[in-house]
Amino acid sequence: MTNENIPNLTGFDEAALEKAFASLEAQARESAAALDAEAFRLQWLGRKQGLLNEVSDRWLKAAPGPAKKAVGQRFKVLKELVEALLEGAGPSDAATDAALRAEAIDITLPGTRRPTGAEHPITRTLNEIVSVFAALGYSVGVGPEVETDYYNFECMNFPPGHPARDTQDTLVVAAQERKPLRDRLLLRTHTSPVQMRTMEQQPPPVRIVIPGKVHRNDAADATHSPIFHQVEGLCVDTNITFSDLKGTLDHAMKALFGSAVKTRFFPSFFPFTEPSADVQISCIFCGGKGCRKCKQSGWIELLGCGMVDPAVFAFAQEKQPAYDPKKISGFAFGMGVERIAMMKYGISEIGSFFAGDMRFLGQFA
Ligand code: PHE
Repeated sequence: MTNENIPNLTGFDEAALEKAFASLEAQARESAAALDAEAFRLQWLGRKQGLLNEVSDRWLKAAPGPAKKAVGQRFKVLKELVEALLEGAGPSDAATDAALRAEAIDITLPGTRRPTGAEHPITRTLNEIVSVFAALGYSVGVGPEVETDYYNFECMNFPPGHPARDTQDTLVVAAQERKPLRDRLLLRTHTSPVQMRTMEQQPPPVRIVIPGKVHRNDAADATHSPIFHQVEGLCVDTNITFSDLKGTLDHAMKALFGSAVKTRFFPSFFPFTEPSADVQISCIFCGGKGCRKCKQSGWIELLGCGMVDPAVFAFAQEKQPAYDPKKISGFAFGMGVERIAMMKYGISEIGSFFAGDMRFLGQFA
């Protein structure tokens, strides 16, 4: 900026002075916003080339006697403005200003609410089942989801190569051919291996429920998912009989589905229980009259159970000799959590549990 920026005044009357000083003030504000503080200071207050010096020379000193006072007053106001602008000059300040304005919050707006989380229906059902047994004095145990062949099958009385293994299509961890079979890893197909892990850790008596995730290489459809959950139960003591098993499960089904529910036990097979049974409950949809849900039979199959096979106790005895089948006996049961949750909440697609759709999950909030 050079002296040409300060034109000679066209007159010294009020109107001319007003116009001339107003335009200088505007110019000062513009420069203050555009320049950094030092450049602005040089431009306006510089000793030699400063614009205020120019104004002083060309306007103030040149003013005729009667106009001197008016020009002087306006010059003083302009100088104060320039000094005030210098305080807050600089493009960085302007940028900060703009940024602050953009960030400014409207404190009258309602706050952002975090939605309260809801327990997943599977977690909820699982906890419900566990608490039915906790009330009977059962404790809770867990075990690994990646399990060895030994715990998942061998000690549960599925010998290597035995066709009973085909009933649980298994997902195995790859590239373990060099390990002995019993040490090879797989995704557990049931929670039953935790029966053995528990017995190895503690002598009888045992009353334990084991909730957990299991995997099978099953094709997904409306009622099957390769990932699902089970609650296992194990009770071992002296003189445990099949009627203890029946009474316990009859009570549990009534606690879960209502006291009107009836149970019945059908012969079945599991390698680790003998005798084994499938438990059916009277259809909770039609009360036993027969409907589509129970395929007109009035009954719905819900879980597997049986008396612990002495062969299983023999494996437990390798670590805990007190599991002597001549002295103790026990029962075990296992139920699918998804199946129970589907019945309790009237859900027809097992996949809904795993799809992560908030419209579905939000209903359990
Ligand atoms: N583990 C069995 C299954 O997954 C269920 C079961 C558990 C049966 C305990 C009897 C006793 O099919």
